[in-house]
Amino acid sequence: MKSDDDRLAIEGGPKAITMDQEDALKWPVIGRQEEEALLELLRKNEISLSDEPKKLEAEFGTYLGAKFALAEVNGTAALYAAMFAIGIGEGDEVICPSYTYWATAMPATTLGARVVFCEVDPHSLNMDPQDFKRRITTKTKAVIPVHLWGLPCEMDEITEIAREHGIKVIEDACHAHGAEYRGKKTGTLGDIGVFSFQASKNLPGGEGGMLVTNNEEYYYRAVTLGHYRRAAELPERYSRYRHTSFGFKHRMSPLHAAITRVQLRHLDERNQRRNRNIGILLDFLDSLPGFDIYHTPEYMKRVYYENDIVYREEETGLPIERLIEMLKAEGARVRRDRYPLLHQQPFFTERGSDPEDLPVTREINNRIIALPTFPNDDGSLVEQYIEAFRKVSRAFK
Ligand SMILES: Cc1ncc(COP(=O)(O)O)c(C=O)c1O
Repeated sequence: MKSDDDRLAIEGGPKAITMDQEDALKWPVIGRQEEEALLELLRKNEISLSDEPKKLEAEFGTYLGAKFALAEVNGTAALYAAMFAIGIGEGDEVICPSYTYWATAMPATTLGARVVFCEVDPHSLNMDPQDFKRRITTKTKAVIPVHLWGLPCEMDEITEIAREHGIKVIEDACHAHGAEYRGKKTGTLGDIGVFSFQASKNLPGGEGGMLVTNNEEYYYRAVTLGHYRRAAELPERYSRYRHTSFGFKHRMSPLHAAITRVQLRHLDERNQRRNRNIGILLDFLDSLPGFDIYHTPEYMKRVYYENDIVYREEETGLPIERLIEMLKAEGARVRRDRYPLLHQQPFFTERGSDPEDLPVTREINNRIIALPTFPNDDGSLVEQYIEAFRKVSRAFK
């Protein structure tokens, strides 16, 4: 017979997670340094025109090892600028995963191109390079790998396929600030890299984004698209557009740039804390059936924007919904995490996408559970989560 203490919380036993989780899970972490940086700008009256975004460009560009960096109003604008910069337009095709945020794909359609969605690998959840290859046509102009949840894509394979076919690579690194692939930072591995500084991101500025590239021409084009004042600083072939831009005003707010600059100073240390805490939990889950824990290859350094795990209920006999209910009863903040798959959204089905395509992506999307990233935890909360999983795993067949 089970002792009282042993009973699952869902059956009336005590919860495994008793700690207050607010501080351990709070994100973003905003403190005195951000307040002071903002106050300084307010006192200088620099709430629109300011060198603050340029300072962020210099610092983040150096951090990444990118020649050119352009601060943008958000990651979506940076993606649009990247696609404009490489000349995506009418009649082109752009390949990207369906399993991503809409901003990866939508700018291509706004520019008149067609989006072709490709499969993800069911373990890493990142773009499947071979499926990308299968979907290439003579119209394919660009591929957009997304380093999903902070895990770098298989960039050697992707860039090699792209090069063979004369396709440009735009990295959507909006989840992957500080991640590395073979010693290089994500965002610097393709032709252009794009970041978001939206408040939930690992490098949060509130709102904001960055385009990075080593290609001068792409940089000039991106500036000309959305930064009319700065176009004046460019060679004449671009500076003549300084009174109009190419139709957008994409500059980043200095206040958000100031927050992002402070956050950048803490990025590596905060990424490491997430990695350490999540690593402890995943090592434990790896010892249980049902959890398909992806082992990051040694040539990658991943970060965690989210902590999403593939759960295979056929291995445990415990349906995913029931698992989540039981974990929640133990006090865990856990949820199903289904992306609204892009190839099934009306915008794309009305433009020729087949909602029944991408069987691997559709299947995996139903198997994901999202756990906290433990950004500020000293390890004690993770221990209680492990206990919650240990208890719940007793219900496995
Ligand atoms: C994969 C991906 N790409 C692009 C973006 C767009 O960034 P933003 O929200 O800064 O426009 C996001 C934002 O969540 C994202 O998750």
